[in-house]
Amino acid sequence: MQAIILAGGYGTRLAPLTYTKAKPMLPLLNKPMISYLIEALPNGVEVIVAANYKNEQLQEYFDENGINAMVVKEEKPLGTAGAVKNAEKYIDGAFLVLNSDIISSLNMRKFIQYHMKKKAFVTISLWPVKNVEEYGVVDLQPDGRIMRFVEKPPRHEAPSNLINAGAYCMEAEVLDYIPPKKFVSMEMEVFPKIIDDGKPFYGYTFDGYWIDVGRHSSYIEATRVLLKKKGLKYFAGKSEIKGKLRESTIGDRCIIHEGVMLNSCIIYDGCVIEKNVRMENCIVADNCIIEENARLKNVVVGEGEKIGKNAVIEDEKIWNKPLPVGYPRKQIGNPVRR
Ligand code: GDD
Ligand code: MG
Repeated sequence: MQAIILAGGYGTRLAPLTYTKAKPMLPLLNKPMISYLIEALPNGVEVIVAANYKNEQLQEYFDENGINAMVVKEEKPLGTAGAVKNAEKYIDGAFLVLNSDIISSLNMRKFIQYHMKKKAFVTISLWPVKNVEEYGVVDLQPDGRIMRFVEKPPRHEAPSNLINAGAYCMEAEVLDYIPPKKFVSMEMEVFPKIIDDGKPFYGYTFDGYWIDVGRHSSYIEATRVLLKKKGLKYFAGKSEIKGKLRESTIGDRCIIHEGVMLNSCIIYDGCVIEKNVRMENCIVADNCIIEENARLKNVVVGEGEKIGKNAVIEDEKIWNKPLPVGYPRKQIGNPVRR
């Protein structure tokens, strides 16, 4: 069996972090988030990573860490279904599709067993949320069958509070629903068509946790949940730490000076946080300098930036360099309709 990990897209909601890193390479407790998905797969499942933007970072990570995964490139983003079609020649039967920006307790083995038992054409994992308008929402029958799938509906039109949790088990014939070499959305085109055709389309709910790491606040939340699961107050790589840390992670080669207080922060590699800096709910990408006494709240600092002495910043994204070539100004794919 193969698992196609959807690791393309620009991750625009996570800019400026994604100006320099592919979204699946953003670290969670100092490990790229894609590694959590790969570790959750049952033995023997072949990993295929469908990627475009900055795919060379993924290949490099797999090579350096002896991870057995194949990167299938798209010249340009083909959408969530187009990317799967692009990997068709590597698929030899029922297969998995996984969004790469999700951290969850979904048991893949049980998920696959459920799909087989139901003799489903497609099974998708489901999770209840409040902010349904940001997700794909389903109408689930008591027997587990899904009669309707709507991507990002306005809240009052959502058929339930159960959303697509971003893991699918599919029969190989699903590939016949996807035209080749085109931008095709699984959620907006393929799922509704399969349901319309009356194919057995099932939903699988599970317990534990599910976190969408697609935006800054949920990225910080995911870090908090993983720290709690490990019973840790903070997590640090090979770094020099003299300040105080709460629910935060620090990469390698950082210096956190005296008097610093970090609360719910994610600090990547090679950062210097100078004396008496206070930060809350902040993400700081690689090789940044935060100078003495700065006060930062809900701030995301892009790679290689410097924040001056005594700065007071709230609710901002810091990036003072040109945008990477070809990076879209707006979210493409499946934006929320407001
Ligand atoms: N290879 C490839 N090519 N991957 C892509 C492309 C593409 O063109 N576009 C998006 N992806 C990847 C993203 O990297 C992500 O892992 C996944 O496909 C889903 O895309 P997102 O852009 O993150 O979509 P979303 O968060 O708005 O909505 C999706 O996820 C929700 C759950 O978090 C949908 O699947 C919703 O239905 C779902 O509820
Ligand atoms: Mg997402």
